Amino acid sequence: MYRLVLTLTASLCALPAFASETTFEQVKIDAGATLFETECRRCHAVDATGDSYSPPLENIVGRGAGTYEDYDYSIALEASGIVWTEAALRAWIEDNAGFMPGTKMRHVGISDRTVQDFILSYLVSISTQDNSAIAE
Ligand code: HEC
Repeated sequence: MYRLVLTLTASLCALPAFASETTFEQVKIDAGATLFETECRRCHAVDATGDSYSPPLENIVGRGAGTYEDYDYSIALEASGIVWTEAALRAWIEDNAGFMPGTKMRHVGISDRTVQDFILSYLVSISTQDNSAIAE
C-alpha cells in the first residue's frame, strides 16, 4: 500500500506537472485569442492576408514600433524608436494614448492585468519570427 502511494505520488509529480503547464499556457492563448477578437480585431488583422484598417500584429513581440511597411503610421509612433517588448505592449494595452501621446490608435484602456496577460500570451503565440537582432 505504502509503495503504491509512493509510486502514485511520484508519477503525479513527474508527468502531469509539465502537461498542466502546457495546458495552462494554451488556455491563456485561447482566452487571449477570444479577447483579441472582441478588443482588437475590428481594427487589426493578424497578418497581411486579413482585412486590416491598422497594422497587422503578427510577429509584433520584438518588432520595432511603426515598422510595418505598408502602413501609414502617425508621426508619434513612427518616431518613437521603441521596440514592442511585452512590457511596452502591456503599457500600450493599458493606456496607449498616455503611453504615446499623438498616436492615432483610438484609446483602448484595458486595466485588468489578467486580461492583459491573456492578450499578451496570444500576441506572443503569433510572434514566431526571431526579432532578437532588431530588439537589441
Ligand atoms: C479603433 C481601432 C483600433 C483598436 C480597437 C485597436 N487598435 Fe491598435 N492600432 C490602431 C491604429 C490606427 C494604430 C496605428 C497607430 C499610429 O500610427 O499611431 C494601431 C497600432 C497598434 C500597435 C503598434 C503596431 C506597430 O506596428 O508598431 C499595436 C502593438 C497595437 N495597435 C495593438 C493593439 C491591441 C493589442 C489592441 C487590442 C487590445 C488594439 N491595438 C486595438 C487601431 C486600433
